[in-house]
Amino acid sequence: MSDLRDQYARPLRDLRISVTDRCNFRCPYCMPAEAFGPNYAFLRDPQIMSLAELRRILGQFVRLGVEKVRITGGEPLLRPDIPELVRLLKQDLRVPVVALTTNGWLLSRAGPALRAAGLDRVNVSLDSLDPKTFAGLSGTGRRLGVARVVEGIATAAALGLLVKINMVVQRGVNDDQIPAMAAWARDHGFPLRFIEFMDVGNHNGWCRDLVVPAREVVSKVSALWPLEPCSPAYRGEVAARYRYLDGRGEIGLISSVTEPFCRDCHRARLSADGKLYTCLFASAGWDLLGAVRAGASDDELFAYLGRVWQGRLDRYSDERSGLLARHETRWKVEMSYIGG
Ligand code: GTP
Ligand code: 5AD
Ligand code: SF4
Ligand code: SF4
Repeated sequence: MSDLRDQYARPLRDLRISVTDRCNFRCPYCMPAEAFGPNYAFLRDPQIMSLAELRRILGQFVRLGVEKVRITGGEPLLRPDIPELVRLLKQDLRVPVVALTTNGWLLSRAGPALRAAGLDRVNVSLDSLDPKTFAGLSGTGRRLGVARVVEGIATAAALGLLVKINMVVQRGVNDDQIPAMAAWARDHGFPLRFIEFMDVGNHNGWCRDLVVPAREVVSKVSALWPLEPCSPAYRGEVAARYRYLDGRGEIGLISSVTEPFCRDCHRARLSADGKLYTCLFASAGWDLLGAVRAGASDDELFAYLGRVWQGRLDRYSDERSGLLARHETRWKVEMSYIGG
């Protein structure tokens, strides 16, 4: 494995691949329907990496030391070839951990093939168990949707996949659902991660007042079922974990706003059109697919990737407060495009 480091001595260990920028949901904090309507310019098919192109590019990431790959979107399960991609990662490239982040809508149907292909873990987004809040927060307007997502979660767990639940918490929107979500996740043995609402993309109406700080969530949950902090499972873990003192599992806090974790950020991101981004909040990426299509060899791709990582200076969440204080805004790639 290469010992490549960026400008802050951070290695490259995780890769998140967005396999499509499309989604069947319109969560207002990610793809608000007003901005992502019928006229939105989504990627066109010829722009999107084929499996053969992905294999070329992913092979070089593995050579550089990537040990965990997370498949995201948009909604990754809108693509029918995800089991093949999982097989490529697990069986051909021998990536130790292959995970998927999904909204769960298509999970019951896709679960068996994903498991058979070797998928290890699934994170499912679920912001509320209340049908009305779910209908609004998924942007689907479908109150029955929550039952379908819960069924997808149950199917994945029954197949032996490790399932975590992601809840983006917004003040006055779904923070009243914290106790019900925590009770449900405890009953079913799923780690529930409370995610601070982030200023991703350019359209989600983010404002600081909507962010519920992680420490507030911990005290709320702890008042119901006492918690104690767990030590990180590995350096650079995104979620800070707490376990219930009664032994009924754990929760996670993803506190990019109030307690940023850039210092240990080992993640690169690959968009569906094959651009490499070195931060979730980046404005521009590096065109790996363009290099492949122009005939770059494996060694040339490897050297290109290495140069980009070595030059990396990103630490947006550390810088956020300063940028806000100076009223500085920058254009950022959309979350649905870059995959969270
Ligand atoms: P595991 O820890 O492997 O389960 O996955 P994860 O939490 O890294 O991935 P997931 O797709 O479930 O993302 C959960 C939340 O963490 C999402 O809101 C992501 O946008 C956020 N997240 C993941 N990585 C980063 C990161 O590097 N920076 C920031 N700011 N947020 C991140
Ligand atoms: N802030 C925090 N998390 C977000 N996600 C999507 N948009 C945001 C945002 N603005 C979450 C999704 C999904 C994960 C990939 O990112 O809910 O669980
Ligand atoms: Fe789709 Fe996930 Fe974004 Fe919601 S958060 S719109 S499910 S990509
Ligand atoms: Fe990494 Fe950028 Fe997130 Fe910081 S803000 S943890 S550098 S992706």
